[in-house]
Amino acid sequence: MSQLLVTHIGELVSLAPLAKEQRCTQIVEQDLGVLSNAWLAIEDGKVLKLGSGPIPEELQGYPKLNAGGGLVLPGLVDCHTHPIFGGDRSHEFAARLSGKTYQDIAAEGGGIQSTIRHSRTASDTELDEGCRRNLKRFLEHGVTTVECKSGYGQSPQEEIRMLRILKKLAEEGPQTLSITYLGLHAKAYDYQDKTHFIEEMTAALKTIQADNLAEWVDAFVERGYFEVEDCERFFSEAQRLGFKIRIHADEFADSRAAGAAAQWQAYSADHLEEASVEGIKAMADSGVVAVLLPGTSIYSKIKFAQAQGFLDQNCAVALATDFNPGSCQIDNLPLIASLGALHCGLSCAQAIAAVSFVAAKSLGLSECKGALAPGYDGDFIIHPLQSKEQWIADFGRHKPSHVFLNGAPAISE
Ligand code: NIG
Ligand code: FE
Repeated sequence: MSQLLVTHIGELVSLAPLAKEQRCTQIVEQDLGVLSNAWLAIEDGKVLKLGSGPIPEELQGYPKLNAGGGLVLPGLVDCHTHPIFGGDRSHEFAARLSGKTYQDIAAEGGGIQSTIRHSRTASDTELDEGCRRNLKRFLEHGVTTVECKSGYGQSPQEEIRMLRILKKLAEEGPQTLSITYLGLHAKAYDYQDKTHFIEEMTAALKTIQADNLAEWVDAFVERGYFEVEDCERFFSEAQRLGFKIRIHADEFADSRAAGAAAQWQAYSADHLEEASVEGIKAMADSGVVAVLLPGTSIYSKIKFAQAQGFLDQNCAVALATDFNPGSCQIDNLPLIASLGALHCGLSCAQAIAAVSFVAAKSLGLSECKGALAPGYDGDFIIHPLQSKEQWIADFGRHKPSHVFLNGAPAISE
């Protein structure tokens, strides 16, 4: 039996009230379940108990780790990333600084197409090593659960190759990876006919399911990429095979994707800068989590989604990095939490929940991740900072000194 008692915690942000109610809306400061002068007991990889003040008698014999008065948070959850790809598109960022848009660059054969070309020519080892490096950087920022999308293969064979690499990395750990087949990302250059392309990517679902390569499916539902109607068959076949849905929705234009996400019973709709009020209402009614991506707004010079429009409708709001080679190379989720608070308009409490409990909810993991409550996974971080206010004002400048997964240290200074 493995045991651990973390002592001398200055501030423990448990989010236990949200975990207890499984609630992701109407989040206020009390919902963070903050304990001062606290301790946290882990047994067999799970949270056993937590509290403040004197340590109970029965825990006295546990091996101890002194948190030095620091801040403890649940392991963070990044619910939208594209970590596996070849090549580098920094020159596109520079071109955007000179006035080109994301769409201009795509029209010239850059953008997603460029990464597809480089990813296809990268070896398995190159893709594996690149992705491994990205995951390690996420971990250093305290991210213990990561949603990982394919999407730069854009042929059945290449997508399956990348999903197999992701599956291998998931099996190796230490982080929990939640894998998504992003089948409809961009029409690959070797397919002239969009209908034919969609058919092929839909047909690939059978192998992906049989080999258990992904849990989720995703599509870039956007004018000029894939319209709602283009995605119907892909998503209905995916649902028939037991996949769950998350989508890229309404980033550049209102493409009716938010409303479609509700109809498709997606777990999340992401981006949403241009989502309509009706779409947001439909999402709230169907329990679709809005995943806002402020890093992409900064990096791609587009507007920020405003959280208030979602909160007013009682739609749950998560934040994620959208780490990818083209529209956002920010891999620092605490920085995204601060940017989300500032630019999307979330309170400190809402922003913390948005990168932990609500993000876990969007991945169907809210009963084991994103909070520190009895029975939850022993995923937590110890920070040299002293309070949640310091954390949100820090903009990801300090890294955690310790990152634990299932009660075991993955980073320990
Ligand atoms: O989420 N919107 C589509 N996909 C990515 C961008 C991918 C890329 O530019 O390589 C995103 O922003
Ligand atoms: Fe994305």
